[in-house]
Amino acid sequence: MTQNDHVRQRQWPGLFVSFEGGDGVGKSTQIKILEESLQASKQDVVVTREPGGSLGAEEIRTLLVTGNPDRWSALTEALLMYASRADHLEKTIMPALQRGAVVLCDRFSDSSMAYQGIAGALGREKVKQLHDIVVGDMMPDVTFVLSLSGGAGLARSKARADEEQRFENKGVDFQTRVYDAFEEIADINPERCVIINADQDKNSVAHDIQSVINQRFSLLETDHHGDKNG
Ligand code: TYD
Repeated sequence: MTQNDHVRQRQWPGLFVSFEGGDGVGKSTQIKILEESLQASKQDVVVTREPGGSLGAEEIRTLLVTGNPDRWSALTEALLMYASRADHLEKTIMPALQRGAVVLCDRFSDSSMAYQGIAGALGREKVKQLHDIVVGDMMPDVTFVLSLSGGAGLARSKARADEEQRFENKGVDFQTRVYDAFEEIADINPERCVIINADQDKNSVAHDIQSVINQRFSLLETDHHGDKNG
């Protein structure tokens, strides 16, 4: 399937964009820059995040990101992630996409595959089963995988002294597996995922992201014209 085919099979008028990568790759900075640029061009933009993004999902987030790294078994952790994702999809993401908004989501289901399925102990198959139940084909139109070499991201993210350090505290080996897992996910989903080199300065990263978004918008335009004509 080509990137164009993927866009043409969209089931909603909006554009669903997710941002993925290991801890500390600079997703939030990039989401902010893209949000501002879309708002400047009068787009309806919804910025959201996982785990979280709706009232119920934010409550579940607190259970997930605080406390001891071994607080939850791999299965419980994944079930909590998917419980929060179900609420987030129902209450925030789908309503926004149906009304035509651009949704910028800081992490989505690729994070479950990377953290719980590949780097964590649960395994790919169980995550895939949960994914099929909760997400199905409600997948992003575009996923940016921000890629940063080695431990640079982890150092950045540890430097953020906040309470939400449970995943960062899982250790360097785990974080390295997470980085590799995202590369694997991007490789097997080339129609949806775009790898962005996050080793550059933030303006160059933003430029790379913006070019892909512009390209997607022009494909959507072609699509709308196609609908009208055909
Ligand atoms: P967060 O503070 O949002 O981290 P970041 O700024 O790096 O996105 O914390 C979310 C943590 O939860 C992050 O370490 C990744 C992890 N996570 C999973 O393990 N599985 C998931 O499905 C999601 C969405 C996040």
